[in-house]
Amino acid sequence: MFHALITGANRGLGLEHARQLLERGWHVTAAVRNPDAAAELKALPQGEGKLDVVAYDAADLGAAGKLARLVDGPIDLLFANAGMMTPTTRQFGSAANEDMTLEFRVNSIAPLALAEAFADRVAASDMKVIALQSSRMGSIADNGSGGAYGYRASKAALNAIGRSLSHDLKDRGIVVLILHPGWVRTDMGGPNGQLTVRESVEGQLDLIARAYNQPAMSGRFFHVSGQDLPW
Ligand SMILES: NC(=O)c1ccc[n+]([C@@H]2O[C@H](COP(=O)([O-])OP(=O)(O)OC[C@H]3O[C@@H](n4cnc5c(N)ncnc54)[C@H](OP(=O)(O)O)[C@@H]3O)[C@@H](O)[C@H]2O)c1
Repeated sequence: MFHALITGANRGLGLEHARQLLERGWHVTAAVRNPDAAAELKALPQGEGKLDVVAYDAADLGAAGKLARLVDGPIDLLFANAGMMTPTTRQFGSAANEDMTLEFRVNSIAPLALAEAFADRVAASDMKVIALQSSRMGSIADNGSGGAYGYRASKAALNAIGRSLSHDLKDRGIVVLILHPGWVRTDMGGPNGQLTVRESVEGQLDLIARAYNQPAMSGRFFHVSGQDLPW
């Protein structure tokens, strides 16, 4: 049985990943900020080999290490999905403020902390995939409209981290995917997004399934459609 660890799984894309992986018979460890408030997640089938819900705050850089001590066994898919877009770091004129450090901590550094804490356990699994939930807004080449300073920069940093991880973890057989889920109707994506969470997650899970034993996919930045995105 495959085992996935997904962060930010109480709503939006992370919740749908947990749902679809459970439907496919995976064991899912869902890491969320506030397990007590994760009612929709906890309504999914829990128990031995199904869903485990654990506490995790990406803003705490010690949280990945604590999680690694709590969660048992090999991890086939480590999915760093939790992310934030801070309104106060969006606009030129007021973007450079303390909130941007939190955005970097959650969007860029926390996924690296997870990879460092879990690399051995991913390497010990069958699938050996680390997926980073990035965003096309982190593409410098694709930035045709400006603004969103904190979000764009923190996702660009995540992309750079993902590429380094792909080199550093190559000898351990780990494939690192850097993913753009599309523009999705979630709290973050808003009601005008082009995809439902179901559509986006189906696409992302297809990509992840394709990555099994495919080192050539490691360190690349993929649109949910499977196309490579420019850096
Ligand atoms: N929706 C889109 O169109 C879109 C496009 C490109 C990329 N993305 C990326 O996809 C990922 C998921 O986004 P979404 O659309 O599903 O957004 P969402 O509905 O706003 O969900 C964000 C998730 O991240 C969690 N999170 C935020 N800060 C956290 C922290 N400090 N510690 C732990 N968890 C934290 C949230 O937990 P709480 O409920 O506790 O706040 C929530 O589960 C993000 O990385 C986002 O950047 C989304």
